[in-house]
Amino acid sequence: MASDEHTGERLQKVLARVGIGSRRVCEDLIDEGRVTVNGEVAELGRRVEVDVDLVEVDGAPIGVRPGLVYYLLNKPAGVITTASDPQGRPTVLELVPAEPRVFPVGRLDLETEGLLLLTNDGELANRIAHPSHGVEKEYLAEVQGEPSRATLRRLREGIELEDGTTAPAQAALVAPTLVRLTIHEGRNRQVRRMLDAVGHPVQRLIRTKVGPLTDRRLAPGAWRELTLPELRSLETAVAGPGTTPGPGVPTDRSAGAGADGADQ
Ligand code: URA
Repeated sequence: MASDEHTGERLQKVLARVGIGSRRVCEDLIDEGRVTVNGEVAELGRRVEVDVDLVEVDGAPIGVRPGLVYYLLNKPAGVITTASDPQGRPTVLELVPAEPRVFPVGRLDLETEGLLLLTNDGELANRIAHPSHGVEKEYLAEVQGEPSRATLRRLREGIELEDGTTAPAQAALVAPTLVRLTIHEGRNRQVRRMLDAVGHPVQRLIRTKVGPLTDRRLAPGAWRELTLPELRSLETAVAGPGTTPGPGVPTDRSAGAGADGADQ
């Protein structure tokens, strides 16, 4: 059953939210008669209820998922990745809208900065966090000392840590004391421990990429919703049953979204 056209959310807002374009662009699409609701050309001012109305742009349904939201946050240092903190430190949930309630996918250490996904889509979050999908995470680490080529090779090939050898990684020197490290595991404090183990403790750590998601312009503390193409590429990255974990990937822990103690 279609909704009353005066209730629900403004059409241009819905279109913008799912990544069709800016509000302005979406208003233009509506003005141009390219947007239909339940098969009828929509007028500006139309409201829709995303869970009952069929919204199409140029005849293609938009991928609205009722009630599901996906935020990309640039976490600043000093903000904790849990829902609440007995010590009263600021939490990542205080940086995004309170409703609908979302949760972080995985965890960044208190002092780690950079990209963190928050969502209320438990299914997708579990897939992203699960080690079998091996979603890549890229970090920039400012370290003490200047890592040698041999050290970078060690980081690439695997470092013996107390919870097992790390899986093959990508490591490159961006500046004399700046390492770009890409891993696809999510063990607790993994990047810091890897760099500690090779004698180059981390001074500052920033996550610059989660799977296909990246955003150099997102200011610390700022968040935005994923665009539809980003959501699609994320879904593609975690499609299927997952691969067999490689050597060194722990298989005995249950890694759910926000698996305790794991940096995802
Ligand atoms: N590795 C770390 O050491 N810390 C993080 O926050 C994420 C990955």
